[in-house]
Amino acid sequence: MAHSPHRIVIVGPGAIGTLLAVRLHAAGHEVHVLDHSPDRAARLNRDGLLLETETGRLRARCRATTRAADLPAADLAVVCVKCPALADAGRQLADLAHPTTLLTIQNGLGVLDALRQGLGAAAARHRLVASVTYQAANRGPDGIVRHVANLPTLLDGSPPLRPHAEAAATLLGSAGLPATVEDDLRPALWRKLAVNVAINPLTALEEVRNGQLAERDDLRRQMLALAREAAAVARAEGVALSDQQAEAAALDAARATADNVSSMWQDVRAGRATEIEFLGTALLRLAAHHGLPLPATADVTARVRALKHA
Ligand code: PAF
Repeated sequence: MAHSPHRIVIVGPGAIGTLLAVRLHAAGHEVHVLDHSPDRAARLNRDGLLLETETGRLRARCRATTRAADLPAADLAVVCVKCPALADAGRQLADLAHPTTLLTIQNGLGVLDALRQGLGAAAARHRLVASVTYQAANRGPDGIVRHVANLPTLLDGSPPLRPHAEAAATLLGSAGLPATVEDDLRPALWRKLAVNVAINPLTALEEVRNGQLAERDDLRRQMLALAREAAAVARAEGVALSDQQAEAAALDAARATADNVSSMWQDVRAGRATEIEFLGTALLRLAAHHGLPLPATADVTARVRALKHA
Protein backbone atom coordinates (compact mmCIF):
# COMPACT_ATOMS: atom_id res chain seq x y z
CA MET A 1 0.00 0.00 0.00
CA ALA A 2 1.64 3.23 -1.22
CA HIS A 3 -0.53 5.54 0.90
CA SER A 4 -1.08 5.76 4.65
CA PRO A 5 -4.32 4.25 5.99
CA HIS A 6 -7.10 6.66 6.89
CA ARG A 7 -10.29 6.33 8.86
CA ILE A 8 -13.44 6.76 6.82
CA VAL A 9 -17.11 6.69 7.77
CA ILE A 10 -19.66 5.55 5.23
CA VAL A 11 -23.12 6.83 6.07
CA GLY A 12 -25.73 4.46 4.63
CA PRO A 13 -24.62 1.04 3.33
CA GLY A 14 -26.79 1.02 0.18
CA ALA A 15 -25.38 0.21 -3.25
CA ILE A 16 -23.03 3.21 -3.50
CA GLY A 17 -22.18 3.09 0.22
CA THR A 18 -21.24 -0.59 -0.08
CA LEU A 19 -19.17 0.09 -3.17
CA LEU A 20 -17.19 2.84 -1.43
CA ALA A 21 -16.82 0.96 1.86
CA VAL A 22 -15.53 -2.22 0.24
CA ARG A 23 -13.15 -0.47 -2.18
CA LEU A 24 -11.74 1.80 0.54
CA HIS A 25 -11.32 -1.16 2.88
CA ALA A 26 -9.59 -3.15 0.13
CA ALA A 27 -7.16 -0.24 -0.24
CA GLY A 28 -6.18 -0.62 3.42
CA HIS A 29 -8.31 2.07 5.05
CA GLU A 30 -10.25 1.64 8.29
CA VAL A 31 -13.92 1.79 7.38
CA HIS A 32 -16.79 2.48 9.77
CA VAL A 33 -20.42 2.33 8.71
CA LEU A 34 -23.15 4.50 10.19
CA ASP A 35 -26.56 2.94 9.61
CA HIS A 36 -30.07 3.80 10.73
CA SER A 37 -31.06 0.15 11.12
CA PRO A 38 -29.83 -1.70 14.24
CA ASP A 39 -30.54 -5.09 12.63
CA ARG A 40 -28.53 -4.32 9.53
CA ALA A 41 -25.67 -2.82 11.59
CA ALA A 42 -25.54 -6.06 13.63
CA ARG A 43 -25.50 -8.10 10.42
CA LEU A 44 -22.69 -5.98 8.97
CA ASN A 45 -20.63 -6.42 12.13
CA ARG A 46 -21.11 -10.16 11.83
CA ASP A 47 -20.78 -10.74 8.07
CA GLY A 48 -19.06 -7.65 6.69
CA LEU A 49 -19.93 -6.12 3.33
CA LEU A 50 -19.74 -7.87 -0.01
CA LEU A 51 -19.12 -6.34 -3.43
CA GLU A 52 -19.03 -8.04 -6.80
CA THR A 53 -16.45 -6.48 -9.10
CA GLU A 54 -15.23 -7.24 -12.60
CA THR A 55 -12.46 -9.33 -11.14
CA GLY A 56 -14.42 -11.21 -8.48
CA ARG A 57 -15.96 -10.75 -5.05
CA LEU A 58 -14.48 -8.54 -2.34
CA ARG A 59 -15.51 -8.68 1.31
CA ALA A 60 -14.88 -5.87 3.78
CA ARG A 61 -14.74 -6.23 7.53
CA CYS A 62 -16.06 -2.98 8.92
CA ARG A 63 -17.45 -1.66 12.17
CA ALA A 64 -21.08 -0.66 11.92
CA THR A 65 -23.09 1.37 14.39
CA THR A 66 -26.31 3.33 14.58
CA ARG A 67 -24.80 5.83 17.02
CA ALA A 68 -22.70 8.63 15.50
CA ALA A 69 -21.49 9.55 18.99
CA ASP A 70 -19.63 6.19 19.14
CA LEU A 71 -17.58 6.89 16.00
CA PRO A 72 -13.90 7.76 16.39
CA ALA A 73 -12.39 10.86 14.71
CA ALA A 74 -12.47 10.26 10.95
CA ASP A 75 -10.66 11.85 8.00
CA LEU A 76 -13.77 11.69 5.88
CA ALA A 77 -17.45 10.76 6.14
CA VAL A 78 -19.20 10.04 2.87
CA VAL A 79 -22.96 10.54 3.09
CA CYS A 80 -24.36 7.85 0.82
CA VAL A 81 -28.03 7.77 1.81
CA LYS A 82 -30.62 8.60 -0.81
CA CYS A 83 -31.96 12.18 -0.94
CA PRO A 84 -35.21 11.49 0.96
CA ALA A 85 -33.12 10.22 3.90
CA LEU A 86 -30.65 13.15 3.96
CA ALA A 87 -32.33 15.15 6.70
CA ASP A 88 -32.57 12.06 8.94
CA ALA A 89 -28.90 11.25 8.25
CA GLY A 90 -28.06 14.84 9.19
CA ARG A 91 -29.93 14.47 12.48
CA GLN A 92 -27.99 11.27 13.18
CA LEU A 93 -24.66 12.92 12.23
CA ALA A 94 -25.35 15.87 14.53
CA ASP A 95 -24.05 13.59 17.33
CA LEU A 96 -20.60 13.15 15.74
CA ALA A 97 -18.07 13.96 18.42
CA HIS A 98 -15.26 15.03 16.06
CA PRO A 99 -15.29 17.56 13.21
CA THR A 100 -14.79 16.01 9.79
CA THR A 101 -15.34 16.46 6.08
CA LEU A 102 -18.86 15.42 5.16
CA LEU A 103 -18.94 14.54 1.47
CA THR A 104 -22.32 14.33 -0.27
CA ILE A 105 -22.63 12.33 -3.48
CA GLN A 106 -26.38 12.39 -4.12
CA ASN A 107 -28.17 13.18 -7.35
CA GLY A 108 -30.26 16.29 -7.61
CA LEU A 109 -30.84 19.82 -6.38
CA GLY A 110 -30.95 20.93 -2.73
CA VAL A 111 -28.75 18.12 -1.37
CA LEU A 112 -26.59 20.24 0.95
CA ASP A 113 -29.65 22.14 2.17
CA ALA A 114 -31.36 18.89 3.18
CA LEU A 115 -28.26 17.65 5.01
CA ARG A 116 -27.78 21.04 6.73
CA GLN A 117 -31.40 21.03 7.80
CA GLY A 118 -30.87 17.72 9.61
CA LEU A 119 -27.51 18.72 11.10
CA GLY A 120 -28.88 21.97 12.51
CA ALA A 121 -26.28 23.87 14.55
CA ALA A 122 -23.82 20.94 14.18
CA ALA A 123 -23.36 21.83 10.47
CA ALA A 124 -20.98 24.64 11.45
CA ARG A 125 -18.54 22.13 13.03
CA HIS A 126 -17.94 20.19 9.81
CA ARG A 127 -16.73 20.86 6.26
CA LEU A 128 -19.62 20.13 3.93
CA VAL A 129 -18.28 19.23 0.47
CA ALA A 130 -20.69 18.48 -2.36
CA SER A 131 -19.81 16.14 -5.19
CA VAL A 132 -21.32 14.68 -8.29
CA THR A 133 -20.67 11.03 -9.02
CA TYR A 134 -21.04 8.89 -12.11
CA GLN A 135 -20.24 5.72 -10.16
CA ALA A 136 -22.79 3.02 -10.95
CA ALA A 137 -23.61 0.16 -8.59
CA ASN A 138 -26.74 -1.79 -7.87
CA ARG A 139 -28.01 -4.50 -5.57
CA GLY A 140 -29.22 -7.59 -7.41
CA PRO A 141 -32.19 -9.76 -6.43
CA ASP A 142 -29.67 -11.97 -4.56
CA GLY A 143 -28.88 -8.98 -2.30
CA ILE A 144 -25.33 -8.65 -3.63
CA VAL A 145 -24.07 -5.20 -4.70
CA ARG A 146 -22.39 -5.09 -8.10
CA HIS A 147 -19.99 -2.38 -9.20
CA VAL A 148 -21.32 -1.75 -12.70
CA ALA A 149 -19.12 1.12 -13.90
CA ASN A 150 -16.09 2.77 -12.26
CA LEU A 151 -16.75 6.33 -13.42
CA PRO A 152 -15.56 9.70 -12.07
CA THR A 153 -16.63 11.64 -9.00
CA LEU A 154 -16.23 15.44 -9.18
CA LEU A 155 -15.83 17.35 -5.91
CA ASP A 156 -16.55 20.99 -5.10
CA GLY A 157 -13.17 22.65 -4.67
CA SER A 158 -14.39 26.22 -4.26
CA PRO A 159 -12.51 28.14 -1.54
CA PRO A 160 -12.28 27.55 1.42
CA LEU A 161 -13.18 23.89 0.83
CA ARG A 162 -10.44 23.13 -1.69
CA PRO A 163 -7.89 21.43 0.64
CA HIS A 164 -10.62 19.25 2.16
CA ALA A 165 -11.98 18.37 -1.27
CA GLU A 166 -8.46 17.51 -2.44
CA ALA A 167 -7.85 15.29 0.59
CA ALA A 168 -11.15 13.49 -0.04
CA ALA A 169 -10.37 13.07 -3.75
CA THR A 170 -6.94 11.63 -2.88
CA LEU A 171 -8.59 9.13 -0.54
CA LEU A 172 -11.04 8.00 -3.20
CA GLY A 173 -8.21 7.82 -5.73
CA SER A 174 -6.17 5.61 -3.38
CA ALA A 175 -8.93 3.02 -3.71
CA GLY A 176 -8.95 3.20 -7.52
CA LEU A 177 -12.08 5.38 -7.56
CA PRO A 178 -11.44 8.26 -10.01
CA ALA A 179 -12.05 11.67 -8.44
CA THR A 180 -11.29 15.23 -9.52
CA VAL A 181 -11.67 18.58 -7.76
CA GLU A 182 -13.52 21.36 -9.61
CA ASP A 183 -13.11 25.12 -9.04
CA ASP A 184 -16.82 25.48 -9.72
CA LEU A 185 -19.02 22.41 -9.33
CA ARG A 186 -22.11 24.00 -10.90
CA PRO A 187 -21.46 22.97 -14.54
CA ALA A 188 -20.84 19.36 -13.43
CA LEU A 189 -23.86 19.44 -11.13
CA TRP A 190 -26.14 20.64 -13.91
CA ARG A 191 -24.73 18.19 -16.44
CA LYS A 192 -25.38 15.34 -14.00
CA LEU A 193 -28.81 16.73 -13.22
CA ALA A 194 -29.60 16.66 -16.94
CA VAL A 195 -28.48 13.01 -16.95
CA ASN A 196 -30.61 12.09 -13.95
CA VAL A 197 -33.80 13.89 -14.96
CA ALA A 198 -33.46 12.33 -18.42
CA ILE A 199 -32.61 8.76 -17.38
CA ASN A 200 -34.02 8.04 -13.93
CA PRO A 201 -37.77 8.72 -14.26
CA LEU A 202 -37.97 7.13 -17.73
CA THR A 203 -36.18 3.94 -16.68
CA ALA A 204 -38.41 3.65 -13.59
CA LEU A 205 -41.62 4.25 -15.55
CA GLU A 206 -40.71 2.01 -18.49
CA GLU A 207 -38.94 -0.58 -16.32
CA VAL A 208 -35.90 -0.71 -18.58
CA ARG A 209 -32.15 -0.70 -18.00
CA ASN A 210 -30.30 2.51 -18.87
CA GLY A 211 -28.98 1.23 -22.19
CA GLN A 212 -32.51 0.81 -23.58
CA LEU A 213 -32.95 4.59 -23.52
CA ALA A 214 -30.10 4.92 -25.99
CA GLU A 215 -31.22 2.00 -28.14
CA ARG A 216 -34.98 2.41 -28.50
CA ASP A 217 -35.96 5.33 -30.79
CA ASP A 218 -39.11 6.27 -28.84
CA LEU A 219 -37.29 6.29 -25.50
CA ARG A 220 -34.22 8.06 -26.89
CA ARG A 221 -36.41 10.91 -28.16
CA GLN A 222 -38.03 11.30 -24.73
CA MET A 223 -34.68 11.11 -22.94
CA LEU A 224 -33.18 13.82 -25.16
CA ALA A 225 -36.20 16.11 -24.70
CA LEU A 226 -35.84 15.78 -20.93
CA ALA A 227 -32.12 16.57 -21.12
CA ARG A 228 -32.82 19.70 -23.22
CA GLU A 229 -35.36 20.93 -20.67
CA ALA A 230 -32.79 20.63 -17.88
CA ALA A 231 -30.27 22.53 -20.03
CA ALA A 232 -32.76 25.38 -20.51
CA VAL A 233 -33.09 25.77 -16.73
CA ALA A 234 -29.30 25.54 -16.29
CA ARG A 235 -28.86 28.45 -18.73
CA ALA A 236 -31.55 30.45 -16.96
CA GLU A 237 -29.50 29.87 -13.78
CA GLY A 238 -26.39 31.26 -15.48
CA VAL A 239 -24.68 27.91 -16.16
CA ALA A 240 -23.43 27.39 -19.72
CA LEU A 241 -24.96 24.06 -20.74
CA SER A 242 -26.05 23.79 -24.36
CA ASP A 243 -28.84 21.50 -25.54
CA GLN A 244 -26.24 19.45 -27.42
CA GLN A 245 -24.04 19.06 -24.32
CA ALA A 246 -26.99 17.96 -22.17
CA GLU A 247 -28.16 15.51 -24.85
CA ALA A 248 -24.66 14.09 -25.25
CA ALA A 249 -24.27 13.75 -21.46
CA ALA A 250 -27.52 11.79 -21.18
CA LEU A 251 -26.74 9.59 -24.17
CA ASP A 252 -23.18 8.90 -23.02
CA ALA A 253 -24.34 8.05 -19.48
CA ALA A 254 -27.08 5.72 -20.78
CA ARG A 255 -24.50 3.92 -22.93
CA ALA A 256 -21.73 3.86 -20.30
CA THR A 257 -24.13 2.37 -17.72
CA ALA A 258 -26.16 0.34 -20.23
CA ASP A 259 -26.56 -2.66 -17.89
CA ASN A 260 -27.44 -0.58 -14.87
CA VAL A 261 -30.80 -0.50 -13.16
CA SER A 262 -31.05 3.24 -12.45
CA SER A 263 -31.23 4.32 -8.84
CA MET A 264 -34.84 5.43 -9.29
CA TRP A 265 -35.90 2.10 -10.76
CA GLN A 266 -34.07 0.37 -7.87
CA ASP A 267 -36.05 2.53 -5.42
CA VAL A 268 -39.36 1.77 -7.09
CA ARG A 269 -38.58 -1.96 -7.20
CA ALA A 270 -37.67 -1.95 -3.51
CA GLY A 271 -40.75 0.05 -2.53
CA ARG A 272 -38.65 2.98 -1.28
CA ALA A 273 -39.33 6.69 -1.72
CA THR A 274 -37.72 7.93 -4.95
CA GLU A 275 -35.52 11.00 -5.42
CA ILE A 276 -38.10 12.68 -7.67
CA GLU A 277 -38.55 15.62 -5.27
CA PHE A 278 -34.82 16.44 -5.70
CA LEU A 279 -34.91 15.88 -9.48
CA GLY A 280 -38.05 16.63 -11.52
CA THR A 281 -39.95 18.46 -8.78
CA ALA A 282 -36.97 20.67 -7.85
CA LEU A 283 -36.26 21.39 -11.53
CA LEU A 284 -39.90 22.33 -12.20
CA ARG A 285 -39.84 24.69 -9.21
CA LEU A 286 -36.76 26.51 -10.58
CA ALA A 287 -38.23 26.53 -14.10
CA ALA A 288 -41.44 28.14 -12.81
CA HIS A 289 -39.32 30.79 -11.14
CA HIS A 290 -37.78 31.58 -14.56
CA GLY A 291 -41.12 31.32 -16.38
CA LEU A 292 -39.94 28.27 -18.39
CA PRO A 293 -42.45 25.56 -19.35
CA LEU A 294 -41.02 21.99 -19.09
CA PRO A 295 -43.75 19.74 -20.54
CA ALA A 296 -41.69 16.53 -20.74
CA THR A 297 -40.35 16.93 -17.18
CA ALA A 298 -43.80 17.80 -15.85
CA ASP A 299 -45.24 14.67 -17.45
CA VAL A 300 -42.68 12.13 -16.15
CA THR A 301 -42.49 13.80 -12.73
CA ALA A 302 -46.26 13.54 -12.28
CA ARG A 303 -46.19 9.90 -13.39
CA VAL A 304 -43.34 8.98 -11.03
CA ARG A 305 -45.06 10.76 -8.14
CA ALA A 306 -48.17 8.73 -8.90
CA LEU A 307 -46.26 5.44 -8.56
CA LYS A 308 -47.32 3.62 -5.43
CA HIS A 309 -44.16 4.15 -3.38
CA ALA A 310 -42.78 7.36 -4.95
O1 PAF B 1 -28.92 7.53 -10.50
C1 PAF B 1 -28.35 6.71 -11.24
O2 PAF B 1 -28.78 5.57 -11.44
C2 PAF B 1 -27.03 7.12 -11.87
O3 PAF B 1 -26.78 8.45 -11.51
C3 PAF B 1 -26.96 6.96 -13.39
C4 PAF B 1 -25.76 7.74 -13.94
C5 PAF B 1 -28.22 7.41 -14.07
C6 PAF B 1 -26.62 5.54 -13.74
O4 PAF B 1 -27.61 4.63 -13.43
